[in-house]
Amino acid sequence: MVQLRTAGAWLAFRDATQRAGDCGEPQGSSIEHPEVGAGSAATEVDVLQPRTLQINGEARTVTAPDDMPLLWVLRDILGLTGTKFGCGIAQCGACTVHVGGAAVRSCLLPVGSVGARPVTTIERVGETEAGARVQDAWLELEVVQCGYCQSGQIMSATALLNRIPRPDDADIDAAMAGNICRCGTYIRIRDAIKRAASARA
Ligand code: FES
Ligand code: FES
Repeated sequence: MVQLRTAGAWLAFRDATQRAGDCGEPQGSSIEHPEVGAGSAATEVDVLQPRTLQINGEARTVTAPDDMPLLWVLRDILGLTGTKFGCGIAQCGACTVHVGGAAVRSCLLPVGSVGARPVTTIERVGETEAGARVQDAWLELEVVQCGYCQSGQIMSATALLNRIPRPDDADIDAAMAGNICRCGTYIRIRDAIKRAASARA
């Protein structure tokens, strides 16, 4: 599987595969992207229109192709690196953010589909009422091990509590099933979600 760990790598891979489809063999990248830079050896320039996104309560204007996954806009253009790349194929949950209040996998969500919906990331979710309760519970129960999956876990847990204030085990299992933890923190995650729910004001 190709691992596209930066916006530049994603742009170069997209361009190479498009050229392979057009010409039968991959060439270098044809996209110049001043906000991304590394990994994109430009030979011609795509004309990209700036777009304004609502990120963590602020209007942020970025220039990116419609089909660029939101993850790379957040990490490589806006510098919000708390959202992690894990698998790139919507299978691990490390890249989870809130879009319009729902937990989504930003590694596959095209930025062009976000529109005016507000985006919340791990950097500011603690400023929301449910996010603060979740983060407090995470600290009290010392959920985190290596930490790599944890921003995605917290985003999914917060979205769950916003949707179901008092989730039962089945609700938690269903909501968190797509967030993988290689350190095996799932039991503590479940306990922390219950603690956060019970701490509701
Ligand atoms: S990086 Fe998005 S689900 Fe794994
Ligand atoms: S805490 Fe290490 S992967 Fe989840």
